Amino acid sequence: MLITKIETERLTLRVIAEGDARDLFDIFSDHEVMKYWNTAPWSSIDEARSFITSSTETMNNNTDVTLGIYLKNTEQLLGKIMLFNYQKESRRAEIGFGVSRKFWGQGIIFEAGNALITYAFNTLHLRRIEAEIDPDNISSGKALERLGFIKEGHLKQRWEINGVVSDSAIYGLLA
Ligand SMILES: CC(C)(COP(=O)(O)OP(=O)(O)OC[C@H]1O[C@@H](n2cnc3c(N)ncnc32)[C@H](O)[C@@H]1OP(=O)(O)O)[C@@H](O)C(=O)NCCC(=O)NCCS
Repeated sequence: MLITKIETERLTLRVIAEGDARDLFDIFSDHEVMKYWNTAPWSSIDEARSFITSSTETMNNNTDVTLGIYLKNTEQLLGKIMLFNYQKESRRAEIGFGVSRKFWGQGIIFEAGNALITYAFNTLHLRRIEAEIDPDNISSGKALERLGFIKEGHLKQRWEINGVVSDSAIYGLLA
C-alpha cells in the first residue's frame, strides 16, 4: 500500500516525519480527541515516536497506510488518517482518522478522506472501505456520512476499555 504524497486544495497528506512527534503527541494526548478512541490518550511523547516508527514500517511493508494531514501552506500537522486491517484478497480495509481539536468543523476530514478514498479505490483497487466507531461519536458519524458511508450495523457491547463497555456502529462504502 505504498504511497508518497497526496495533495488537495488546502492539505498535504504524507508520511509523518520523526520530527513531528511533539505535534502528533499534542493532538493525541488531548482527552477530547481521544474520547471515543479504542485506546487511552497518549501520556508520553515516546508513544508518538513509536507510532511514527511503526506506521513507517507498515507503510514500507505495503500493509497499512498511515498519513499525516498537513496544512499545505504552513506544513502544520493537523491530524492523521489511516487505512488499516487491509484484507488483500477481499480488497477491503478500514478507515480511521483524528484531527486536532482546534481544526474541528472545518471539513478537514471531508477533504482528506475524499482524497484517501479516491486513492484507495482508483490506485489500490479496493472494493470496500469500512469504519467502526462508537455510536455516541456524532461528529465522526456525520463526517463518515458526508464522505458517502452508509451505516450498516450496530454491534452491542463490542468493546471494554478500562472497564467501560461500549457498542460499535459499523459503516461501509463500496467502490
Ligand atoms: C471526527 C472528526 C475527525 C471530524 O473531523 P472534522 O474535520 O471536524 O469533520 P467536519 O468538519 O466534516 O465535521 C464533522 C462534524 O463534526 C461536528 N463538529 C463540527 N465542529 C465541531 C466542534 N467545534 N466541536 C464538536 N463537534 C464539531 C459537526 O457535527 C460536523 O458535522 P456537520 O457540520 O456536518 O453537522 C473530528 O471531530 C475528530 O478528530 N474527532 C476526534 C477523533 C475521533 O473521534 N475520530 C473518529 C474515530 S475513527
